[in-house]
Amino acid sequence: MKQIKKITCIGAGYVGGPTMAVIAQKNPNVEVTVVDLNQARIAAWNDENLENLPVYEPGLDAVVGEARGRNLFFSTEVDKAINEADMIFISVNTPTKTYGKGKGQAADLKFIELCARQIAAVAKEDKIVVEKSTLPVRTAEALKNILENTGNGVNFHILSNPEFLAEGTAVTDLHNPDRVLIGGEDEAAIEALVQVYEAWVPRERILTTNLWSSELSKLVANAFLAQRVSSINAISELCEVTGANVDEVARAIGQDSRIGPKFLKASVGFGGSCFQKDILNLVYIARSYNLTSVADYWEQVILMNDHQKTRFAEKIIQTMYNTVNGKHIAFLGWAFKKDTNDTRESAAIYVADHLLDEEAQVVVYDPKVPAEQIYKDLDYLGTRSPENNRRLVKVVDNPYEALDGAHAAAVLTEWDEFKGYDWAKIKEGMKRPSFVFDGRKLLDRKELNRLGFAYYAIGE
Ligand code: UDX
Ligand code: UDX
Ligand code: ADP
Repeated sequence: MKQIKKITCIGAGYVGGPTMAVIAQKNPNVEVTVVDLNQARIAAWNDENLENLPVYEPGLDAVVGEARGRNLFFSTEVDKAINEADMIFISVNTPTKTYGKGKGQAADLKFIELCARQIAAVAKEDKIVVEKSTLPVRTAEALKNILENTGNGVNFHILSNPEFLAEGTAVTDLHNPDRVLIGGEDEAAIEALVQVYEAWVPRERILTTNLWSSELSKLVANAFLAQRVSSINAISELCEVTGANVDEVARAIGQDSRIGPKFLKASVGFGGSCFQKDILNLVYIARSYNLTSVADYWEQVILMNDHQKTRFAEKIIQTMYNTVNGKHIAFLGWAFKKDTNDTRESAAIYVADHLLDEEAQVVVYDPKVPAEQIYKDLDYLGTRSPENNRRLVKVVDNPYEALDGAHAAAVLTEWDEFKGYDWAKIKEGMKRPSFVFDGRKLLDRKELNRLGFAYYAIGE
C-alpha cells in the first residue's frame, strides 16, 4: 500500500483550511499544501499574526501556529501543488445554483469540474482524489469521467470523505470526531486515507463504505440535524399559544435515549452553508427520480425554517404596535451561530430584510462580523438598492452604542458575551417600553422582567 507523503487540498475555506491544519498537525511526516485561487485568502492564512486567519475558529490559531512552515503550507500555486501530491482533496465551494436548470435547488458543480479538469491536465502520475466538499450523490462518477477522459493516461482513484465538522467547534470536532467516513471502490486507496486519519482517530471510528453511501450519508446527516431543529421550532410556535415552555418540552423528550438531548434548541431558525443547501440538494435528487413524496417530506424542513424566521420578524412588528417604521432596532449578532464569523444563510439576514421592508432602522453589533460582510449579505438578496440598505442599516462595533436609544433589542446569535452585558445600564438608555426579542432563548427572563424590559423569547 502506498504511504502518503504529500497531500494537496484545493480550496482554503471553512472546510479545507481547518481540516488540513489538523491533518498536518497530526501527521508531521506528511507535507500538506492548501491552495486557493483567492490570493487575499492565502495571504491571510500566511499572516504572521495568527489573529488574522481568514477563518475564525476557537483553537485554530494554535494548530496553524504549530504546523505552518513545518509541514503545512498555504499557496496560490495550484498546478505545482497538484503535480507534487499523492493525494488531492477537493474542498471548493458548491453553492446552490442561481441560474438554469435546478436553479435554487441543485448544487452548482462548476468549481468542482474546473478542479477536475485542472487535475487531469496537470497530473503526470497516479493520484488519489478525495471529495471533501458536500456533493450530490454520484458526483464521484462525473469526477471520474472527467479525470479519465481528459487526463494524461494516469490512474485516478476517487474517494468520498465528507466533512462533519460544525463551525465554531471545528477544531474539537476534527480532533475528536464521532466518526470519519471514507467511501470508495479501491481498497488500497481507501487504506491510504485511513492511515492519514489513524494518526489520531481510533480505527473503530473510521467507517468505510461504497462511494454512493458515503456521498449520500453527508446529505442525510445534515438533513436529519436540520429536521430536528425544524421539529422543535414547529413545537415552539405551539408552546407560545398553549403556555407550554419549549425548553421544558425539549428536556423531557431529550431524556428518551431513543431521541437524545442534542440539537433540540428552539431558535429563530437554522442557518449556515450546509443545512439548507444539502436539503435542497436531497429534494432535487428525489424529484429527479420522481420520488415526489420523499421530496415533499424533506422540503417541509426548509419551509418550516423559513416560517420561523418570518414569524420572528412578524412578532417584533406586531408587538411594537404593528409598525416599526423609523424605529431603532438593535440586532445583537449577525453570524449564523456563535463562535464563528460566518454569516452564510444566517437567520439575521432574513429577519433584517423583513424589518427593513417595513422601514425599520436596524443597528447591528456582532463581535466577529465586519460591516462590509453585513452589507454584502443584504445587497446579495437584491430586495432593495445598496444605497437603501446603507440608509437603513448601521453597523457598530460596540454593543452599548447599538442599544443606546433603541426601541427594541433582538438577539439573533447566541454569543455568550450578550449574557454578561450590564442590562440595567442598557435599560436606562433605551426607549420605553423597552422590548427585547430573544431569538435564541439566551437571556434571563426573570432578570430582564425585573429590570422592566418587555421580554419575548421563542417558544415561551
Ligand atoms: C410507542 C413509543 O415507543 C412508546 O414510548 C409510547 O409509550 C407508545 O408508543 P410502541 O407503539 O409500543 O411504543 O412501539 P415502538 O417500539 O415505538 O414501535 C412503533 C412502531 O414503529 C412499530 O410498528 C415499529 O415496528 C416501528 N418502528 C420502530 C420502525 O419501523 N422502525 C424503527 O426504527 C422503530
Ligand atoms: C452543520 C453540521 O452540524 C455539521 O456536521 C456539517 O459538517 C456542517 O453543517 P454547522 O452548519 O457549522 O454544521 O453548524 P450547526 O451547529 O450544525 O448549526 C447549524 C444551524 O442550526 C445554526 O444556525 C444553529 O444556530 C442552528 N441550531 C443548531 C439550532 O437552531 N438549534 C439547535 O439545537 C442546533
Ligand atoms: P467551504 O465552506 O466549503 O470550505 P468556502 O467558500 O469557505 O467553502 O471555500 C472554498 C474555497 O475554494 C474558496 O476560498 C475558493 O476561492 C476556492 N476555490 C474554488 N474553486 C477553486 C479552484 N478551481 N482552484 C482553487 N481554489 C478554488
